Amino acid sequence: MAYKVPFVNAREHYRRYKTEFDHAIIDTLSRGDLIMRQQLRDFEERLAAFVGVKHAVGVGSGYHALHLSLVAAGIRPGDEVITVAHTFVATISAIVHCQATPVLVDVRDDYNMDVDAFERAITARTRAVVPVHLNGRVAEMGRIMEIARAHRLVVVEDAAQSLGATFDGRQAGSFGLTGCFSFYPFKILGCFGDGGAVTTNDPEVARAVRLLRYNGEDRDTGEYHYHGYTALLDNVQAAVLDRKLQHLPEWIAHRRDVARRYSEGLTGVGDLRLPDYPDDRYADVYQNYVVRTRQRNSFREFLEENGVETLVHWPKPVWEHRALGLGGCRWPETEAICREVVSLPMSAETTDDDVAATVEIARQFFS
Ligand SMILES: Cc1ncc(COP(=O)(O)O)c(C=O)c1O
Repeated sequence: MAYKVPFVNAREHYRRYKTEFDHAIIDTLSRGDLIMRQQLRDFEERLAAFVGVKHAVGVGSGYHALHLSLVAAGIRPGDEVITVAHTFVATISAIVHCQATPVLVDVRDDYNMDVDAFERAITARTRAVVPVHLNGRVAEMGRIMEIARAHRLVVVEDAAQSLGATFDGRQAGSFGLTGCFSFYPFKILGCFGDGGAVTTNDPEVARAVRLLRYNGEDRDTGEYHYHGYTALLDNVQAAVLDRKLQHLPEWIAHRRDVARRYSEGLTGVGDLRLPDYPDDRYADVYQNYVVRTRQRNSFREFLEENGVETLVHWPKPVWEHRALGLGGCRWPETEAICREVVSLPMSAETTDDDVAATVEIARQFFS
């Protein structure tokens, strides 16, 4: 179906920046720079500066950023790692693939970790916590870091959805031992395939992730230090990301503007709950603009019938996916969120007309 208002618009994105993207790709290929070359180093340096940390290491995906972070942090079979139940499954899979035990806790109404629930979940076997900064909003990192310090826990931030978001003036991905980013095409900073990065101030962790991403080999000496992985961010993607990073501040400003317009148009409409939280410590980047209503399914159907494309992140709690073996918890906020949320169109290409049309159709539904 051709939507009047698409959720994102990849074709328009490419059209707007074609000259820059084509140049980055052709220049990289013309130089024969495919992997582990200058474009990657340039991007890593600029990403680290953007996040405000000493090191950034490009990897094959957000999943790999999480997994390699946990391996580099020394997470072992039998360790417990606390994270949220309401997240993309990759957060949890990264823990499972270390043969550690994921301990899932509930979230608050801003979709991020319930910090009291995190504290209650700590046991003698807890080694790490993975707070997820969902939808472009940082989790409450002040308290999370305090609790983690008190219990000597490793903090690996899942910042896949929140590059550029801040808490108390600090960037997502700059609080913990590592920050993990995804450059999946529809992320705030997306490449043309899979990509990710680990940010850290710890030189040993940066070195470990660099080795792990390329089969454990130190390319200078030929020595293998780990049974590693093949999880590189290739140079063509890095060159494109490096170009895109320069546009990121304007894209974030645009997303904030779109969010403001949605909020102006939808405040007080039906039972809609909007992602407006009066707390100056947070500056959100709106990877997703998520609204809640008890009539989610019929609301979503109405938007779709009227040409507005929406997404639901996610319709079913992870513990209900039997094959994942994550039974044993059943958290009320996560369950309610899965029943009630829908994400409205949001991207750097979303226009004023897109927002106006979406607001108009949403209002019609509730009138
Ligand atoms: C919260 C979260 N964590 C992890 C990931 C995994 O990133 P990737 O798809 O690049 O592996 C994603 C991507 O959708 C995500 O949204």
